[in-house]
Amino acid sequence: MTRTSFTLTATDGAARTGVISTPRGEIRTPAFMPVGTAATVKAMMPENVRATGADILLGNTYHLMLRPTAERIARLGGLHKFMNWERPILTDSGGFQVMSLAALRKLTEEGVSFRSHIDGSRHMLTPERSMEIQRLLGSDIVMAFDECPALPADRTRIEESMRLSMRWAQRSRDAFGDRPGHMLFGIQQGGLEPDLREESAAALKAIGFDGYAVGGLAVGEGQEAMFGCLDHAPGFLPEDKPRYLMGVGKPDDIVGAVKRGIDMMDCVLPTRSGRTGQAWTRHGVVNIKNARHSDDPRPLDEQCSCPACTGYSRAYLHHVYRAGEMISGMLLSWHNLQYFQEIMQGMRDAIAEGRFAAWEAEFDAGRAEGDI
Ligand code: GUN
Ligand code: ZN
Repeated sequence: MTRTSFTLTATDGAARTGVISTPRGEIRTPAFMPVGTAATVKAMMPENVRATGADILLGNTYHLMLRPTAERIARLGGLHKFMNWERPILTDSGGFQVMSLAALRKLTEEGVSFRSHIDGSRHMLTPERSMEIQRLLGSDIVMAFDECPALPADRTRIEESMRLSMRWAQRSRDAFGDRPGHMLFGIQQGGLEPDLREESAAALKAIGFDGYAVGGLAVGEGQEAMFGCLDHAPGFLPEDKPRYLMGVGKPDDIVGAVKRGIDMMDCVLPTRSGRTGQAWTRHGVVNIKNARHSDDPRPLDEQCSCPACTGYSRAYLHHVYRAGEMISGMLLSWHNLQYFQEIMQGMRDAIAEGRFAAWEAEFDAGRAEGDI
């Protein structure tokens, strides 16, 4: 008895809807995971993140190992208790963040040594250490330790990196062991090369994981190239396991990914852009800092039921942004998270009812209105 499962309930073209069950609750797919890097979804109380419709959050090995450390979090009862979020948490494994954030990185067969971007202290991450940290945190969905080159990179670099990640995937599997109630996901690499994506998927399937991520995308290749890859990459992965596209994306990226067979995604976009004055709506992006909102009594989005839209005018949101008030980031983050979750719910319903294409056409028509 593994106490976790993935059940597909409907498909529509390549798009799928289903449920991942864990002891901490169900994750309705396609799922969008808000990012809680430092044991907080920035500017949001956990119960409010839940109120937007999130079933699961993402946490980061890299940040938490440096501050406040995985050992401290474990002593305090684990990450769920620490951050007051009792539902599922997926943690990324650290390698990707080391490569983008840490200083003096050194990559070897063993793992990655680096200096902290916070205080310059020295650290080492290996597949074994990453599994240990994610266990100490109490993560429900643990990611294999991988490495990912920034694109564009030449084929040799992508191929060698992918093969290293596959050796690390085996070490991650061995170190993870058997942990009922917890899932371990492998991460497919291989850049934009179909044959490398296929080789990577075959290596991961031979090891055997509870779910499979598509990694190495949204690293500078652009939407067209990413969709080109997603036209084939998910098809190499098992149909009966969840597929997670890491670090994606804008609403149209998310919709295009789900259309191509992706079940889970995460991105800092809704919260980060909320803090920088950008609101995503069904009619396009609103830049609340823009002076044309200063006298506007209308809400951000008439159809949205979030607190920012039901309680405040664009003029107020503009004012608090300009005044540097904290409520600005709070309200816009809430709105953006709720909008992203409404997109997910819309897609889940549309797939279940076999009308994804019509749903997508409506989504595209709204978005075409542009900056409003
Ligand atoms: N986040 C975005 N892309 C990646 C990736 O390729 N690997 C990992 N571990 N995290 C990611
Ligand atoms: Zn709203």
